[in-house]
Amino acid sequence: SYNVILALLFGYLLGSIPFGLLITRAAGLGDVRKIGSGNIGATNVLRTGNKGLAAATLVLDALKGTAAVMIARHFGHDFGLWAGFGLWAGLGAFLGHLFPVWLGFKGGKGVATYLGVLIALGWHVALIFIVVWLAMAFLFRYSSLAALTAAVIVPIALYFWSTPETAALFLVMSLIVIFKHRANISRLLAGTEGKIGAKG
Ligand code: G3P
Repeated sequence: SYNVILALLFGYLLGSIPFGLLITRAAGLGDVRKIGSGNIGATNVLRTGNKGLAAATLVLDALKGTAAVMIARHFGHDFGLWAGFGLWAGLGAFLGHLFPVWLGFKGGKGVATYLGVLIALGWHVALIFIVVWLAMAFLFRYSSLAALTAAVIVPIALYFWSTPETAALFLVMSLIVIFKHRANISRLLAGTEGKIGAKG
């Protein structure tokens, strides 16, 4: 329906803002896509050596997902339009981050935005995501492995603690996150994946 397209498009526009690229460019660090993994996410911004910019990228990439859901939900509920607005706007924001029209559809891997959408749609499971990510990152020092583990656990947790629609949405997004990490998975298996904080 038009509602779905409207919510997707609204989310997409917010999600497609490539904060990692904009922030590092504004700081005079050049194109973050030319270093490390070539990704525009917080993990790769950290490879510039600037922790503040990496933290800002993480927060803003997450926030655009949270904001997309909350704003869309506000219009969906409070103006009596449609309660499904939030879910579709969240999916739109996630897809916008991964496939931004402004960057020739070559965007990020979606982990921070996934978390941001999850904060708005199931904050209790977002806490599980954060605990799992931190534990895995602390134990193994690979951002990708931490994200992949969280991406496997979240849909299962949502299956038990949320609505079927929310669980289905995150199952789809997890599969996309895993697919987007295929180069990371190859490097993890080969033992060549860069550890968190290693410059590159
Ligand atoms: O959030 C992306 C992270 O899981 C991997 O980033 O730059 O190491 O490919 P990167």
